[in-house]
Amino acid sequence: MNLFDVYSLYDIEPVRGEGSYVYDSDGTRYLDLYGGHAVISVGHAHPRYVKAIADQVARLGFYSNSVQNSLQTRFARRLGKISGYDDYSLFLCNSGAEANENAIKLASFHTGKSKVLAFDKAFHGRTSGAVAATDNPAIVSPFNRTLNVEFARLNDIADVERHLASGEFCAVIVEGIQGVAGIRMPEDDFLRQLRDLTERLGVVLIADEIQSGYGRSGKFFAHQYSGIRPDIITCAKGIANGFPMGAVLISPEFEARKGMLGTTFGGNHLACAAALSVLDIIEDENLIDNAASVGQYFIDRLKKMPQLKDVRGRGLMIGVEIEGSASEMRKRLLFDHHIFTGGAGATTVRLLPALNLSKEQADIFLKEFQNLLNEK
Ligand SMILES: Cc1ncc(COP(=O)(O)O)c(C=O)c1O
Repeated sequence: MNLFDVYSLYDIEPVRGEGSYVYDSDGTRYLDLYGGHAVISVGHAHPRYVKAIADQVARLGFYSNSVQNSLQTRFARRLGKISGYDDYSLFLCNSGAEANENAIKLASFHTGKSKVLAFDKAFHGRTSGAVAATDNPAIVSPFNRTLNVEFARLNDIADVERHLASGEFCAVIVEGIQGVAGIRMPEDDFLRQLRDLTERLGVVLIADEIQSGYGRSGKFFAHQYSGIRPDIITCAKGIANGFPMGAVLISPEFEARKGMLGTTFGGNHLACAAALSVLDIIEDENLIDNAASVGQYFIDRLKKMPQLKDVRGRGLMIGVEIEGSASEMRKRLLFDHHIFTGGAGATTVRLLPALNLSKEQADIFLKEFQNLLNEK
């Protein structure tokens, strides 16, 4: 059997990782500024993470959501405390798309309405509702296409107001920082206006923090720069450092009913052990502060490079817009200098490293990147 050929692959196979480095089978070392697509939060093979998962799988890897699981309640308490959402409740699932799917479902149950407003260039995942709210027709099948989703312009509150005027909307979904779009920032003022408007109209505000959350922006959630409190927040990616997990944080306005949401694997013992160890490491190693300070260091230095068209982002979620092809630049960085980066669109290089990246590691990239820019 062959693999279904849907991914464009680099001809490199990392077989081992340590901190912000991965190694291929020949032992070649690569600096990882991509974090396996914003997933590696505490670094590859962190010893505390490895031990937590190994200990748990040796005890009990999985049991279903039909019995008590104190790992889930411990994780919920810890996540509530570190995120500032103590009073919210938690639903655990397995991926980002699934988290958004459940968030939209909850908003629809709660309001009895069916329409969702998303934003231009948004990416919310590839399952049915999540992909319908994603602004990319190439990945929306005829089955997924629905009149239940409309798109407004990001940072244009009048456009949002015009859409919501029909009174048919259960939710507005917005990324804390748009990632796949190339690190596009909702303005803090826009988020505050969006919060006021949705509150006034009784529309649920969903913050998709799947890429921008979990400390990546230099705060636990990127929307916290604006001071708003969304009704629902979705997370995944960095939550368990690569162990598949998604989470929905739900405000106290929502009432749970038995059977309303559910999943076989969500919140399983191994996922919770992985996620608890990620929180231990984030707290004990001050990784959110590190993301803020190393991120600012990166951004300040990148902004001094005269060849760049734009530098956007917060913390360790950075988009660098170059003249010419981002894909060519990423290949040169990878094959000539052994540095992994992410892409977004034709001209943006995305940096999404582990939150414990050091300034010295940032300098390695900055030097090679500047040299490549100088060659042009
Ligand atoms: C903002 C955002 N939402 C949702 C998703 C989907 O997450 P997953 O691939 O885990 O389903 C992604 C993944 O890139 C994302 O960046």
